[in-house]
Amino acid sequence: MLIIEPVLPNELMDLQEIMATTFRDSYENIDGKQAIDLYIKEHFSQDRLKKLISNGKQHLYFVKIDKTIIGYIQINEPGYQSDLDEQNCIEIQRIYLNKEVQGNGYGTQMMAWVERETKNLGYSRIWLGVWKLNPRAVQFYIDQGFSIFGTHSFPMASGQDSDYLMEKILAE
Ligand SMILES: CC(C)(COP(=O)(O)OP(=O)(O)OC[C@H]1O[C@@H](n2cnc3c(N)ncnc32)[C@H](O)[C@@H]1OP(=O)(O)O)[C@@H](O)C(=O)NCCC(=O)NCCS
Repeated sequence: MLIIEPVLPNELMDLQEIMATTFRDSYENIDGKQAIDLYIKEHFSQDRLKKLISNGKQHLYFVKIDKTIIGYIQINEPGYQSDLDEQNCIEIQRIYLNKEVQGNGYGTQMMAWVERETKNLGYSRIWLGVWKLNPRAVQFYIDQGFSIFGTHSFPMASGQDSDYLMEKILAE
């Protein structure tokens, strides 16, 4: 059974490991090893993760089967979101599964959980940015009821690239 629970302060090593592994597996073949190594070093350092889980507005959760970590989710409240920082909504900044377990329906369960959590936190809209070069993820979000409402460009080692901005309004 899938279990989703908050990352605790003494679990930062596990968090760092799953963040780095899933990021590398998802993007290294597109962006190259050097750029990915640099991103991981800068964004997934222990210091950075410690700040992230302690500000109370960015929420990190492990996704587990039994006691094994198979993925993680990061959602952000207003004031702590990337790019847009929209009001009255939740941003899904990261939703990742180990590659060995993708395509088995866990992502769908994770998204249903995020929707419940969004409502628990008092919001009724979710947005996210997804890289245009990640068509499987774009299709996944469309299947989950998200629609594209804009684009956002960002710098990459190989030049500028862009995200689709997608949103879902939750039913009452
Ligand atoms: C995106 C992700 C969380 C979806 O979870 P999942 O468990 O693979 O998705 P599900 O099994 O619930 O749904 C599968 C559907 O999503 C799509 N999909 C997305 N990524 C997929 C993948 N890597 N492998 C297989 N299917 C994938 C398929 O279109 C599939 O559609 P189908 O049901 O018609 O076959 C997961 O695939 C993942 O971690 N991918 C890599 C990281 C990533 O891209 N994260 C999003 C960054 S914005």
